[in-house]
Amino acid sequence: MPKIDKGHSGLTSAILATIGLGVGIAVLALVVIQSPTIRDDAPAAATAEYGEQILRNTAAALGPNQADPDKRFSGTNMACASCHLDTGTEPGTLSLLQASARYPRFSGRDGHEGDLRDRINGCMQRSMNGSPLPRNSLEMIAMETYILSLGDQFAAMGETRRSPNEPPGFAEPDRAASVEAGQIVYEERCEVCHGVEGEGLQATGNINDGYLFPPLWGPDSFNNGAGMTRLLTAARFIKARMPLGDADLSDDQAYDVAAYVNSHPRPQKSNLEVDYPDKALKPVDSPYPPYADPFSREQHRLGPFGPIREFYRNR
Ligand code: HEC
Ligand code: HEC
Repeated sequence: MPKIDKGHSGLTSAILATIGLGVGIAVLALVVIQSPTIRDDAPAAATAEYGEQILRNTAAALGPNQADPDKRFSGTNMACASCHLDTGTEPGTLSLLQASARYPRFSGRDGHEGDLRDRINGCMQRSMNGSPLPRNSLEMIAMETYILSLGDQFAAMGETRRSPNEPPGFAEPDRAASVEAGQIVYEERCEVCHGVEGEGLQATGNINDGYLFPPLWGPDSFNNGAGMTRLLTAARFIKARMPLGDADLSDDQAYDVAAYVNSHPRPQKSNLEVDYPDKALKPVDSPYPPYADPFSREQHRLGPFGPIREFYRNR
């Protein structure tokens, strides 16, 4: 069974420097890339180390071009670590350090309680545009073992290391987001890495090695049922983390550029109408219908969200 050799994989080091040239042009100062090595001899075990490798080199482990067709669970060549930065070890936005403590819990989207494996499969089917891993597969148990180990790591961390190294949290503007204003932010601050067409940049000539800069839209990005398609989820992430190494956007810029990113086509997930069996539990920024309120799909996509919250408060 192929196994990924720890320590020879993915983006192992990226030192990003930026210079403030008026609008601010991000310059990639030094990027060291090493590509994953697939070994046939290593025994596969559901260790935390193997789980960490899967989160980092998801395309190699589970991607659509994996040599073993039975392991092609992901529909994209992105990695879990494309969103869960540093395989979830960074405190703050989309950190996985405390994830294990949150499960099992009720999911409004699924309409029932789910455990950590169900939650991982939620990201598999949406963020990774793929299909659910069998609950007892080696890869699933390895990822779970890894995320559980992060909980121990968090408990052992000192107070200073627990506090996120991020700008102040995103504060939602009281207006509809502007796709046009977002395009300007994109061209000035994002395009340099994520590409003119949001297509990203592959790590190597082999797509199994995944991306240096992951795609933000298009056929190899997250699908339309993913959390990142929600304006507020995307804006929070972008404000906290992007541009990578130089996260200095204003709330307005993060809000508008999130709308711009999500105004483009991406893979479509089927049966989204069954999400949130109780439609009143649907987040205000869920971009797909049906809704239990009279607001337009456009307003759910772009805001303003205050009036929608007000409607549910008064019910
Ligand atoms: C496109 C971005 C993206 C990718 C790629 C992605 N996720 Fe997620 N993930 C999210 C978002 C957004 C959430 C929801 C966070 C929230 O509810 O606050 C989430 C939540 C989670 C959670 C629950 C965290 C918690 O504290 O409740 C786990 C576990 C998780 N993801 C694991 C994975 C794994 C494993 C992969 C790869 C197989 C993956 N994710 C890929 C965006 C992503
Ligand atoms: C210096 C390069 C760089 C710049 C500039 C940059 N990003 Fe990223 N972005 C990355 C990398 C690299 C990742 C994946 C995280 C990782 O590998 O550590 C990422 C991940 C993302 C993701 C989650 C993964 C995905 O593919 O959807 C989003 C959303 C995102 N960036 C949006 C933006 C936006 C919006 C801007 C502009 C405001 C921006 N980024 C600017 C490098 C960059």
